[in-house]
Amino acid sequence: MTTFADLGLPRAIVNVLSKQGITEAFPIQKAAIPDALAGQDVLGRGPTGSGKTFTFGLPMLARLAGAPSSPGHPRGLVLAPTRELAAQIRERLEDPAAALGLRVLDVVGGVNINHHIRSLASPVDLLVATPGRAEDLINQKKLFFDAVEITALDEADQMADMGFLPQVRKLLDRTPKDGQRLLFSATLDGDVEKLITRYMHDPVTHSTAPVQAAVDTMDHYRLLVGGREERNEIALQIAAREGKTIMFMRTKHGVDRQVKKLRRAGIQAQGLHGDKGQGARTRALEGFADGSTPVLVATDIAARGIDVDDVSLVVHVDPPAEHKAYLHRAGRTARAGTSGTVVTLVMDDQTKEVAQLLRKAGVNAPEVRVAPLSESLVTITGARKPEGAPLPPPGQPRRTNKPAASGNRSRNANRGGGNNRSRARRSDRSRRSNGR
Ligand SMILES: Nc1ncnc2c1ncn2[C@@H]1O[C@H](COP(=O)(O)OP(=O)(O)OP(=O)(O)O)[C@@H](O)[C@H]1O
Ligand SMILES: [Mg+2]
Repeated sequence: MTTFADLGLPRAIVNVLSKQGITEAFPIQKAAIPDALAGQDVLGRGPTGSGKTFTFGLPMLARLAGAPSSPGHPRGLVLAPTRELAAQIRERLEDPAAALGLRVLDVVGGVNINHHIRSLASPVDLLVATPGRAEDLINQKKLFFDAVEITALDEADQMADMGFLPQVRKLLDRTPKDGQRLLFSATLDGDVEKLITRYMHDPVTHSTAPVQAAVDTMDHYRLLVGGREERNEIALQIAAREGKTIMFMRTKHGVDRQVKKLRRAGIQAQGLHGDKGQGARTRALEGFADGSTPVLVATDIAARGIDVDDVSLVVHVDPPAEHKAYLHRAGRTARAGTSGTVVTLVMDDQTKEVAQLLRKAGVNAPEVRVAPLSESLVTITGARKPEGAPLPPPGQPRRTNKPAASGNRSRNANRGGGNNRSRARRSDRSRRSNGR
C-alpha cells in the first residue's frame, strides 16, 4: 500500500485526508504526485473518478506552502471549464490548504464580481477560476498573474478546444514563462497538443488508462427502445427508479422539457444547463448531492468533473454528440472504485450513429431490446411505474398557508445544509473506503 506520506506530501495534508477516510493513494496519484512535487510539468490522464483533483491539487498546495502571497497576486492557479467544477475543486482543496495555512478562492461567472473583488483584497494563495471571470477581473486590474508559480488546467483537452483556447492562451500568457504547469483530463488528446508545445517544458506523461479511459467497474448497455413515444415512456420509468440518476440531454430546451415531464409524473427532478440562473444551478446540484432530488437532468455542462457520491445510473436520453462526451458523461457514475451502470436509449433511427460513437469511445455496450416495464428494462435500470403526485415546476414551492415564510425557510435550510452535507460526504467516504 502506498500512502500519501510515502509520496512525499506534508504530514498536515496526510492528516486531513485520513480524517476523510482517504489513506491509500490511487494509481494516478502514485504515478504523478512525486513528479509534480519535484516541480516537473506533468500531463496526467487517468479515468473518470480516479482522483485527478488531488493529483494536481495537493502537490500545488505543498509547493505553495511556507511563502506569502500578496492581495490580487495568487501564486497557484487552476483553470476549469465550468462554474460547478471550479467550485468543487476549491471545496476539495480547502481543508488541505487550510492545514498548511493557505487560502483557496474560486472566482466564477454568475456571482457578483464585486464579491470577488472584495475577496481578492486579502491574499489568496491558490485561485481556482473559470476563464471568463478570470479575464474580467484582470481587465478590472483586480487580479494579476505575474506571481503565478504553478498552473493546472483541469479537463485540459476541453480547455484547449475551440471554445476556450483563445481565452486560455491569453490567461496563460500572463503567467511567468518558467512556471510549472500541470495538464489533466480523462481524455487528453487532440487540441491539447497546442497547449503542450507552447506552455510546457519537458513534460512527464502519466497515463494510467488506455486512450479510451475505460472504467472497469462500469456496465454499459444500449437499450433499443423503438420510437420516440416509447423512449419517452421508458425514460420516465427509469427516472422513477430508486437511487441517484443523471439523465443527459443534448439541448437546454430538452432538459427543461424533460424536467417538466418528470415532475408532472411526481418524480423529484431538477435541471442543470447554461441558461439557468446560478441560484437554480447551485440548488439543482446541491439537491442532487444530498439526495433530496434523486434525478438530475443536464446538458453536457455536467458531463465533466462533477463528483457526486452514489450516482448509480447515467442515462444518455439523447446520445452525446461525440465519443469523448460519452466517456465524461458516463464517468459521473462508478467513481473512486465504486460500480455503476450507463445506458444509452437508442431509437430505431439512431442505431448506426450510436454504434459508431461507442466504437470510437472503445466501449463495449451490449444491445438489449426493451419495452416499457419489460423485464430486461427493470433488471438493468430498476425502472418502475411513476406513482407520485404531480410536482410543481422546480423553484416554485408547493402551496402552503404562508408562501413567503416557507420560501425563506427553504432558502435558509439550503444554506445551513452545507455543513450537514459535507459531514455526510465525509462519513460516506469513510464508509466507502472501509468497504474497499
Ligand atoms: N486515494 C483516494 N482514496 C479514496 N478516495 C479518493 C482518493 N482520491 C480521490 N478520492 C475520491 O474520489 C472521487 C473522485 O475523485 P476526482 O473527482 O478527483 O476524480 P477525477 O479523476 O478528477 O474524475 P473526472 O475525470 O470525472 O474529473 C472524489 O470523491 C475523491 O474525494
Ligand atoms: Mg476531475
